[in-house]
Amino acid sequence: MAQQEDVFKKIVSHCKEYGFVFPSSDIYDGLGAVYDYGQNGVELKNNIKQYWWQSMVLLHQNIVGIDAAIFMHPTTWKASGHVDAFNDPLIDNRDSKKRYRADVLIEEQIAKYDEKIEKEVAKAAKRFGENFDEVMFCSTNPRVLEHKAKRDALHERFAKALNNNDLEELRQIILDEEIVCPISGTRNWTEVRQFNLMFSTEVGSTADGASKIYLRPETAQGIFVNYLNVQKTGRMKLPFGIAQIGKAFRNEIVARQFIFRMREFEQMEMQFFVKPGTELEWFQKWKQTRMAWHQALGFGAENYRFHDHDKLAHYANAATDIEFHMPFGFKEVEGIHSRTNFDLSQHAKYSGKKIEYFDPDTNESYTPYVIETSIGVDRMFLSVMCHSFDEEQLPNGETRTVLHLPAALAPVKLAVFPLTKKDGLPEKAQEIINDLRFHFNCKYEEKDQIGKRYRRMDAIGTPYCVTVDPQTLEDNTVTLRDRDSMEQRRVHISELQGIIEDQVSITSLLKKLL
Ligand code: GAP
Repeated sequence: MAQQEDVFKKIVSHCKEYGFVFPSSDIYDGLGAVYDYGQNGVELKNNIKQYWWQSMVLLHQNIVGIDAAIFMHPTTWKASGHVDAFNDPLIDNRDSKKRYRADVLIEEQIAKYDEKIEKEVAKAAKRFGENFDEVMFCSTNPRVLEHKAKRDALHERFAKALNNNDLEELRQIILDEEIVCPISGTRNWTEVRQFNLMFSTEVGSTADGASKIYLRPETAQGIFVNYLNVQKTGRMKLPFGIAQIGKAFRNEIVARQFIFRMREFEQMEMQFFVKPGTELEWFQKWKQTRMAWHQALGFGAENYRFHDHDKLAHYANAATDIEFHMPFGFKEVEGIHSRTNFDLSQHAKYSGKKIEYFDPDTNESYTPYVIETSIGVDRMFLSVMCHSFDEEQLPNGETRTVLHLPAALAPVKLAVFPLTKKDGLPEKAQEIINDLRFHFNCKYEEKDQIGKRYRRMDAIGTPYCVTVDPQTLEDNTVTLRDRDSMEQRRVHISELQGIIEDQVSITSLLKKLL
C-alpha cells in the first residue's frame, strides 16, 4: 500500500514537471482542489473528450450534442432536488480539527475487509500453486469467512443508515468499527451533519434586485431543460440521446487525491430518453457500451469493475459505477443511472410547461424515462495517467520514466529530431513536420543528445520519434523509433504518414467499439 502511495506521489509530481497538471494559481501557492492543465495536459484532455464525443455523436445516429450555459435559472435546482438534497454527511475529528465524509470513512473500512480477504487469497495461491481452487478456498477458509461475515454485516448496516438518512447511525457505525482519524489517531468524533455542495453567487447589481444563482453541480440539468428544444428542432424520435461536455462545480469539503475530487471539474454526460418500461433494458445496454469504451483503451479488463449502488439517488431506479483500479484502490470514474422520469416531470411541474413526447406509433403522449451516463473528464485523465506511468528497468541497468499512453490519446504523436544542428538537417526535419502537421501533432526538438531527447518524449508519452541524419539527405530515409519497444528501423519519409496516422487517430479507438 505504502508503495502504491509512493507511485501516486510520483505521478502527481510527474504531471507538474512535464506540463500536464499544475496547481491553480501556483505562484500564490495554489487553491485547494482546483487545478490547471498545462501544454501537454490540455492535449491529452482534449483527446479524451474527442474520444468520448465521437463515440457518442458519430457512432450513434440518434445521439446529438449541445453546449448549455453554466448559469441556469435558479428554479432549475429547486426542481432537480439539489437545493434540498445535494448534501454530504460530514464529521469532524475534535483533536485534529480535520473534516471527513462519514460515508467515505465507512466505505474505506469496508474496503479494508476486502483487502484482508484478498491478502488471504494471494497467500494461499502462492502456497498451493497451480492446484489452487479460489472458489473452494473462499467458501471454506475460516479466516476468509470471518472477514466476509464482518464485511457483509457492516455493508448491510451502512446501506440501511444511508437509505434512512440516519446520521446518528452513521456516527455510531464509525464508533463501533473503531475508525480513527488518520491524522490524530483518535476516535474523538463530532456529530454527523449534512452540508450542501452547491456554490452560489449573485446576478445583477444589488440596486436592480440581485438574485442568487448557482454554479451548476452537474451538466445534466442543462440537457433536461433543453429536452423540448432539441426534440422539436431535431425532430428526434424516441429512443434518442443528448450529449454534453462541460464544467461542473461542487464545494467538496474533503478534497483529496489530486484531480480525483475537485471543486471545479469537467463532466461528459449523456441523457438517453426512452419509452417508459424499457428503461432497465437500456440501462443494461449502456452499462455494456460504456464498459466497452473504457476497455478499448487496452488497460486490461481486470482493472475495471461495476459497483452497484446501495443507496439510490433521489431520482434513480437503478445505478452503477464503473470503477477503475487506481493506485489508491478501485475508484469511481463513471456513473450510469436509470433516472426514471423524475427530472423531466419536476421541470414540467416547476415551469408549468408540458414536457412530454408524442409517440406516433401508439398515438399517446408520455414523459420519457432517462438513462444517464456520466463520466468525469479529470478522473478519466487520472486513470489514464495512473495506468500509463512506468519506471522501467532497462537491460543496461538504467531506469527510464515512460508514459505508455494509448497512442490516440498521446499529446504529441511524433517528435522529429535533427541529429545535429547543422548541415541542413534542421531544415530537413522541419520539412517533414510541415508535411505531417496537418495529420497529427508533431514536435521539433534539436537540443541535447538524441538519447536525452528520446527520454523527454518517453516522459510525455510520444509514441514515435524520427531522427534525421546525413543519410536522410541522400536517400530520404529516417530512423523511426517506437516508444514502447524502443526498437528503431529505417523507413522512407513517404511511408511515415501511413505508418503513424492509423495508429494515433481517434478513429483507431472508435473502430474497436463496433
Ligand atoms: N449527473 C450525474 C452526476 O453528476 P455523479 O456521480 O455525482 O453523477 C458523475 O458524477 C461523475 O463526475 C463521477 O463519476 C466523477 O467521474 C465525476 N465527478 C463527480 N464529482 C467530482 C469531483 N468533485 N471532482 C472530479 N470529478 C468528479
